[in-house]
Amino acid sequence: MNIRTHDSDEALRDPLPPNPMPIFRAWFDQARADGNQPNPNAFSLCTVGPDGGPSARIVLCKQIEDDAIVFFTNYTSRKGGEISEHPRVAAVFHWDHADRQVRIEGTATRTGEAESDAYFVSRRVISRLGAWASEQSRPIESREALMERVGEVMLRFGVPIEALTDDTIKADIPRPPHWGGWRIRIARIELWQGGDGRLHDRAVWERVADAWSVPVRLQP
Ligand SMILES: Cc1cc2nc3c(=O)[nH]c(=O)nc-3n(C[C@H](O)[C@H](O)[C@H](O)COP(=O)(O)O)c2cc1C
Repeated sequence: MNIRTHDSDEALRDPLPPNPMPIFRAWFDQARADGNQPNPNAFSLCTVGPDGGPSARIVLCKQIEDDAIVFFTNYTSRKGGEISEHPRVAAVFHWDHADRQVRIEGTATRTGEAESDAYFVSRRVISRLGAWASEQSRPIESREALMERVGEVMLRFGVPIEALTDDTIKADIPRPPHWGGWRIRIARIELWQGGDGRLHDRAVWERVADAWSVPVRLQP
């Protein structure tokens, strides 16, 4: 069965372009437009702990910029603590149906408060409640205890129960101070397009002095 939706030859032709981001954006947009995976903006985020050990988890990319990507999370989560201590991170996007991956290495910094606020208010009520109720990555004794915490937050902000299921009901829930965005400034990006017979196309760009280095093609 051939489930590929794209011709593997169409992307990384010689000469490689001086800027990788238009291709990255085009792949990202294409994955969204294809509509065959629920979270085409998902990527694996790898962080490093105090003992040098790596850990990875999926998060959602909410913005692609000229030399950065942005995601949102709880700053006091495991990943949040690790990034605060060790801001160099790695990220991998994988679009299986298109036989593509994008590998990023970079340095994370917190987004501004206004930027985090702007994204937070756009989230569904249940997600905003969850951001207050969940001490992400910390143990909790039961599911019930977690739901009790959600109930407490609803009382605190006067959120009616219907708002959980009816997105038209407005609720005034401010952004918790421990929740916000991280901007990963890209130091290195590899675009990978699968090819027949494992003769994949791979090319790497590095960010040097605020400009993209001359791209380098890698063997598959
Ligand atoms: C498809 C998908 C998308 C997710 N998006 C996010 C996200 O954008 N932010 C986030 O904090 N966690 C997200 N998660 C949950 C994380 O994978 C992870 O469980 C959580 O952030 C705790 O990670 P940590 O304990 O390493 O900090 C997502 C999980 C999945 C499966």
